[in-house]
Amino acid sequence: MNPEIGTLTLSTASAPARKPWLEHWLDTCRDLSALTATHPMMDAVIDEIDGRMIRVGDQWLADFASCNYLGFDLDREIVESIQPYLEAWGTHPSWSRLLGSPVLYEQIEERLTALLGSEDSLVLPTITHIHMSVIPLLAASGTIFLDSRAHKTIYDGCQVARSRGAAVRRFRFEDPDHLDELLSAERDPTRLVCMDGVNSMTGNAPDLRAFAEVARRHGALLYVDDAHGFGVIGERGPGELSPYGRRGNSVVRYAGETYDGIVLVGGFSKSYSSLLAFIACPTEVKQLLKVAAPPYLYSGPSPVASLATVLAGFDVNERRGDALRAHLHALTVRVLDALERLDVATPNRSAFPIIEIPLRDHDRIDAVGRFLFERGVYVTLAAYPLVPKDEVGFRVQLTAANTVEEVDRLIAAVTELVERGELRKASAAAERAAA
Ligand SMILES: Cc1ncc(COP(=O)(O)O)c(C=O)c1O
Repeated sequence: MNPEIGTLTLSTASAPARKPWLEHWLDTCRDLSALTATHPMMDAVIDEIDGRMIRVGDQWLADFASCNYLGFDLDREIVESIQPYLEAWGTHPSWSRLLGSPVLYEQIEERLTALLGSEDSLVLPTITHIHMSVIPLLAASGTIFLDSRAHKTIYDGCQVARSRGAAVRRFRFEDPDHLDELLSAERDPTRLVCMDGVNSMTGNAPDLRAFAEVARRHGALLYVDDAHGFGVIGERGPGELSPYGRRGNSVVRYAGETYDGIVLVGGFSKSYSSLLAFIACPTEVKQLLKVAAPPYLYSGPSPVASLATVLAGFDVNERRGDALRAHLHALTVRVLDALERLDVATPNRSAFPIIEIPLRDHDRIDAVGRFLFERGVYVTLAAYPLVPKDEVGFRVQLTAANTVEEVDRLIAAVTELVERGELRKASAAAERAAA
C-alpha cells in the first residue's frame, strides 16, 4: 500500500498554506472515493458464501480477495472445534490481558513459540495494535530505519514513535546496501530497522539474510512484519511438499535465520482465519510489553471463538498444513504459468500466493474491475492512492480453499483482458528494466 497516504495527514496539519484538510483529502482520494461509491467490487456487501464462491447481490463470484490462505475459515474440523470452547468460556473474555487472560492465551503462546522456534512470544488482538505500541517502545528516542514500501500500519507505528522523539529515515525497498549506507552514516546508538516480510503487494519475501547481516553488523534491531508469510512459508528441508517449505513458521525460519537481533511480528487474521496477532521476541522484551504496551493493558481481547480457532488451527497445521500449502502452491503456479504464457507483467517472483497485475492505464481501473465482476471474478482493486499511479491494477490472492475451476475462470477473464489490451506486457517491462 502507498505509505504516502500516511505522511500527508501530518504535513497538511502543519502547513497552513495548504487547502483545509478535508478538501485536501477529498482531492487526494478522489479516484478511490468515486470507485467506492459506484463500483460493485469496492466496499461490497457479501450476501452469502459457498466455499470460496461469494454472492454479491445477484452475482456469484470466485473469490480471490481473501487472505484465508490455508482455507481454515471453511475447514470443518476447525469450525466444529469451536463450540466446546464457547461452552467453557462464553463468547468473550472482556478482560484486558493485564486484568485477566484465559489460560487459552498461555496455550497459544506456548504452541506458537514452539512452532516459530523463538525464545518467547506474546499475543495481542491485531498487528496494528502491535505496531502502534511496540515500535515506539523499541525505538525510544533513537532512530528508525524504515523500508520505504513497508505496510501502512508500520508507517503509522513509526509516526507514533516520531511523536515521542524518534527520528525516521527511509531506505529503498529491497535494498540492503542502501540500509547499510544509512546505518554507516548514523551516529545514534539506538537503531531499529522496520520492514515487511512477504510483501502484501508484490508477493515477494525480502532477502532477510542480507538485511539481518546488515542490521547485526550495525547493532540495529530488525523488526519484521510477516503478516502474509506466517502460515504460508516456513523452514526449508528434506521432506517438504512444496517450495513454501514446512510448517508455515514464517519468514525467519524460511530464510534459515535465527532470532538473534530479530523481532518477528505476524498475525492469525490471514492464514489462520482468526482475530489475533503475535510478536516473537526475547522473554525480557515480553515482560516489558506486559507492563508498557497499551493493548496488553487496556485493549479489549480477541473473542473466544478466535482463540479456539487458533488452537484448532495449530492442530490442523501440524497434520495437514504442508499438504494444504502444496495445494496452494500448485494453484498459484497455475495462475503464474498462465500469466507467463500470456506475457502479462506481475511483480511476483516468488510463487507465493499474492499476485498483483498492474494495468496498462491507471484510468481503466473502474472498467477493468467491472469487467472482472461481470465475469464472476472477485479481486482486490489496487486503486490510487492505495498504490502509486504506475502500480494501479488488481491483486489476486489464492487460498487452499479455491478450486481449479475457480482458478480457470480467473485465467479465462485475464486472457480476455489481454486481448483487450488492458494489461502490461511482461516482455515490455523486462525490456524497460534492461534499458
Ligand atoms: C503487512 C501487513 N501488516 C499488518 C496488517 C494489519 O493487520 P491487522 O489486521 O492484524 O492489524 C496487514 C493487513 O492487511 C498487513 O498486510
